[in-house]
Formats: sequence, C-alpha cells, structure tokens
Amino acid sequence: MRKGYLHIRGGRPLEGTVEASGSKNAALPIMAASLLADSAVRLRRVPRLADVGNLVAVLRCLGMDVGREGDAIQIAPRDTAPFQAGYTHVRRMRASFCVLGPLLARRGRAVVALPGGCRIGPRPVDLHLKGLAALGADLSIRNGNVVARSARLRGAKIDLAGSAGSTVTGTANVMSAATLARGTTTILHAAQEPEIVDLGRFLNRLGADIEGLGSSTVTIRGVDQLGGAAYRVTADRIEAATLLLAAAISGGRVSVEKVVPGDLRAVFERLDQAGMELTIGADRVSLLAERLPRPLRITATPYPGFPTDLQAQFTALLCLARGQSRVADAVFPQRFLHLAELRRLGAEVAAGAAGAVVRGPCRLSGAPVAATDLRAGAALVLAGLAAEGKTVVHGVNHLERGYERLDRKLAALGADIVRKDRAARWIPNGPP
Ligand code: EPZ
Repeated sequence: MRKGYLHIRGGRPLEGTVEASGSKNAALPIMAASLLADSAVRLRRVPRLADVGNLVAVLRCLGMDVGREGDAIQIAPRDTAPFQAGYTHVRRMRASFCVLGPLLARRGRAVVALPGGCRIGPRPVDLHLKGLAALGADLSIRNGNVVARSARLRGAKIDLAGSAGSTVTGTANVMSAATLARGTTTILHAAQEPEIVDLGRFLNRLGADIEGLGSSTVTIRGVDQLGGAAYRVTADRIEAATLLLAAAISGGRVSVEKVVPGDLRAVFERLDQAGMELTIGADRVSLLAERLPRPLRITATPYPGFPTDLQAQFTALLCLARGQSRVADAVFPQRFLHLAELRRLGAEVAAGAAGAVVRGPCRLSGAPVAATDLRAGAALVLAGLAAEGKTVVHGVNHLERGYERLDRKLAALGADIVRKDRAARWIPNGPP
C-alpha cells in the first residue's frame, strides 16, 4: 500500500458543496453476499477504497469474476468454486470475514482466516460462529482458520446479543447465510445499522425473503436459490458526517449532497446541541458554524445511537469548545488512540476511566502526527484544519481504507491540504 502524507495548513473556513460517496460498510458485506447469487451482480456507487480493493482480491481468489467500470463493480460466478479465503487478505481487512456466511451457504464449505484484533479493540467473532453453528454449520478452528461445512443450513432462532449490544458484521454473516437455509430464521438483537438494512435490501433484490430490517428482530425465510441483480449502494453516513464536522471545526458553511439524513439523526442532535446550524433537506444537509462549539457529553452506542465511527472526529471538534466535554465509547471502549496525537496538536485531552475528557477551548498548532486507524486519521485531519500553521498527517494509508480521496473533497471546499508521497523535512510553519 503506497505510503502517503497529508500536508495541511489550518485556519481556512470551508465553504461549498460536496457529494457523499457510497458507504464502505454497506458495500463490503454486499460484495461478500454476491457469492450467494447464481448469476451476475452489478453494484453502483461502490467507493474507490483500499478495503474494496482487498475484497475484490478475496472474491477473485474465491473464483468470482470481478470487474470495475467507474463507480460500478460487476461480480459474476465462474464454474470453479474454491472455498478458501486466506490470511493475507483477511489480516489486511477484517471485513473479509463477511465472506464466511455466504460461502458456506452457497458452496457448503468455507475456510476463512480468523481476523486478528486491531487498534480499536480485540474484535472477537464468537457471535458470528454462534449464529452459523445455530444454522447447523459444522465449525472448527484449525491453523488460524475457521473451517466450516454444511450440507444445507437449516433455519433457527438466534440471539446475537453481545457485551456491546449487537454485532454489525456478525448480523451480516448470519443474515446472508440464512437466505439459503431450509426454513425460517429469526435473528434476535440483530444490528439495526443502515448498512445492514442496505445489505438486507440487496439480498431481497436477489430474491431473498427478509423482513424486519432496521429493527432488532429480523426474519429470513430461506429460499432455494438467489439470482443476479443490479443495486445501488447507500450513502456513506460516516463520511458525510466527517465532512460536516470539517465545516464545524473550520468555522465554515458546507452542504453535503446525496446523503440519507434519516441515518444521521443522533449526529445531528449532537451538532445542534453543540450550537451548529443545520439545514436538512430530502437528500442533503448543510451546516453553518457561526460560533465555537459548546462542550458536550457523548457516548457512542450501537445504532440508532451516536456512532462509534464518529467519536474520534467529534472529539477533535470539542477541543475548540469553551468548557469540559466527555466522550465515551460503549462499542469499542479502547478506541482512544487518537488522543495522544491530538495532544501533539495542543489539545487538552486525556483518557479517563470512562473515555476521553476534553478541556477547551484550546488553540491547536500544527505538528507532524500519525494516524493509527481510519477514524483516528480523520480526526487528525479535522484538527489540522483548525490548527495554526502546518500539520502533516502520517499514515494516510489508514485513511484511504475508508475515505474516497478525502484530501480532494476538502481541497474543493477551500482547505489548504495536499497529499504527498513523502513527509518532507519538518520546518515548523515553514514553506509548504
Ligand atoms: C462494524 O465492525 C464496522 N465495520 C466498524 O466500522 C464499526 O465500528 C462497527 O461495526 C460498530 O459499528 C464494518 O462494517 C466493515 P461489531 P464489526 O461486530 O462488525 C463485539 C470503520 O471505521 N463483538 O458490530 O467488526 C465487539 O467486540 C469500522 O468503518 C463480540 O463481542 O463490529 C464490539 O465491542 C471500524 N463478538 C461490538 O461487539 C462478536 O462476535 C461491536 O462489534 C462480534 C462483535
């Protein structure tokens, strides 16, 4: 993966209109679920991301014909049907684990590498395995792989409640597998995230029979086969909210188009409480930041709560608030690696027993910082937009896993941000 750095000079209010890309976290399980179809699937609005590229490689290893034309990806089964997704791909991107359920349901066998942990938490998959075992799969762990077999899966009643609520990709794996099971499956404590709703709608477009999407109880009546279809992936709500936060932190005015405002209610509530002025349309949202944000208390919880994938970015905004804020994460309690990097930019943030304590207002000043994961990287970019002088964000490869050319979108809104392939000698506030 190409190394890269983002050079940012802060202090410019962002202005203008930008379009949200297709959702990474919807596109990935939908691409994996294409393994279930007997004929070609054509997906539109698939973002150009490293994670998507990784999953294309996995699908090709699994015998699928995959091609990209513009924002569309075509996935078609070939006659070969290998069933092993190796560690190299799954290690690089844990969402590859989403091929397990579809592979097992369609081919009766699957060998998928167990995903490791990552910087935001241990990332177990026990609920995925519990759900597939309940559908009648014979599962074992061998040499770091999940080895799964089943003549034909059978419908079951499955409770996917975990310590932190439900599991998003666990629901994706089990719901996808259940579409070809014999009989009816009921998933209790299913994930309600918009990305799972989008996956369910895609599966129904293929001929599945799923009800209850968006609620915590999803019912899947098994069918004998699924055909091909064309489908347009939903908007990326996390990217859209990140772009709105860029307007908030820079004191600007930005409209984000082609979004689903209903998916962002909990975020809009917090932005409103922080004093940001929102104008919400049918498929667009505008944010006007005429004042510094107010301090807040936020706890990230499963949907429809405030999303864990946005707490780092919101923490960056709260550094500017006059007063003390607290940000907790009930989904990934350890997801605070961005705090140390924000402190390098002058933020007064510390990890407390129940999350981050943010003392503001603080004057952010540019510095070299390092992204540790996708959303932490986004938080550092946002902070760089508000910091005085030059900030260089290392580890752009993390960002490029989940944001489609964020630098270009921000530059189009007036940010002084350039992607470079080397960090350049560090001269504080020196020439760009
Ligand atoms: C999905 O990850 C997203 N990734 C994550 O987005 C997101 O942060 C997360 O959901 C929560 O919303 C994709 O959709 C590709 P979980 P996932 O299973 O499915 C526990 C990003 O930045 N758990 O919903 O892996 C787990 O430890 C990424 O785009 C179990 O205990 O998350 C966590 O505390 C980061 N056992 C909680 O559930 C299991 O078997 C939620 O995890 C599975 C999960």
